[in-house]
Amino acid sequence: MLSFDDDTLAPSASSAESGASTNTHKRVNAADKRIINAKTDVNQLVPFKYKWAWEKYLATCANHWMPQEVNMTRDIALWKSPNGLTEDERRIVKRNLGFFVTADSLAANNIVLGTYRHITAPECRQFLLRQAFEEAIHTHAYQYIVESLGLDEGEIFNAYNEVESIRNKDEFLIPFIEAIMDPNFHTGTPETDQTLLKSLIVFACLMEGLFFYVGFTQILALGRQNKMVGAAEQYQYILRDESMHCNFGIDLINQLKLENPHLWTPAFKEEINELFRKAVELEYQYAEDTMPRGVLGMNASMFKGYLRYIANRRATQIGLEELFPGEENPFPWMSEMIDLKKERNFFETRVIEYQSGGALSWD
Ligand SMILES: [Fe+2]
Ligand SMILES: [Fe+2]
Repeated sequence: MLSFDDDTLAPSASSAESGASTNTHKRVNAADKRIINAKTDVNQLVPFKYKWAWEKYLATCANHWMPQEVNMTRDIALWKSPNGLTEDERRIVKRNLGFFVTADSLAANNIVLGTYRHITAPECRQFLLRQAFEEAIHTHAYQYIVESLGLDEGEIFNAYNEVESIRNKDEFLIPFIEAIMDPNFHTGTPETDQTLLKSLIVFACLMEGLFFYVGFTQILALGRQNKMVGAAEQYQYILRDESMHCNFGIDLINQLKLENPHLWTPAFKEEINELFRKAVELEYQYAEDTMPRGVLGMNASMFKGYLRYIANRRATQIGLEELFPGEENPFPWMSEMIDLKKERNFFETRVIEYQSGGALSWD
């Protein structure tokens, strides 16, 4: 039997020395599993301890979809028609793609190169593997929309360098990816465990759980007005995936907290509160930049309330107080979208069943 270091896949020196014939390794006892810093074998998925992670893994697999399944014909016609969309609506679409075409690559890199090796619960690793693939599907979806509409790829894929409101969001996130990607970074002390916990919170609650929401709401609002219905349908699937990622991340954070209550200090909580406030501010600036005027029955100031409402929800989900007490949801229809099942075809575009390994056809 092989044994591995806590947070890498390299066989430890002692097991390499003792070799495969050693019988000093005990079978995994579920009670010994830990979210981080476990001593148990990360290659043995069972016996299960974190059933919620396994169930979420199964649920995400049941939601499988691919971008090419969505028909973009009506979007292409609308985009090419000179009077199909207003300038403000076009700005929304381009800014939106400008953020998302690179955002999901950041998310994927954060999982694969950052989070994954630090998580020692194999059920959670299983979910993270599925999540990483879904991030690839999302990047594919955004690329597919850019290509379908014939947008300037250089402009869209460089927006995170060139558009201030997008760059500011990414510059907020990147230090939290880099901290845990550093090859010299290892969990195992209160300080480094807090660094990982902070990174998990930033990603689940503030990136997937907050920074995506102005963009999602805008494109889904277009879809509700029967515009860009193919793009809107893809965003619906992405929103469903992301709400699962966000919920998994919150469960992961809460389990990690439960196992390591000493990390949740008043100073740490205050630091997290500060990050929440900063993220709300950055996302609000993005809302203002993407909607200089009212459009689609929405305006930037409605998003101030919406972002505060979401931030309150994320905060309470991880055991913090509401940051902006009493905020209400100005977009209740977004909650319905999150629960939408694939077979409920809201925009009445034609989705065919997923055929793995086969060619897709439209009828
Ligand atoms: Fe994603
Ligand atoms: Fe995600």
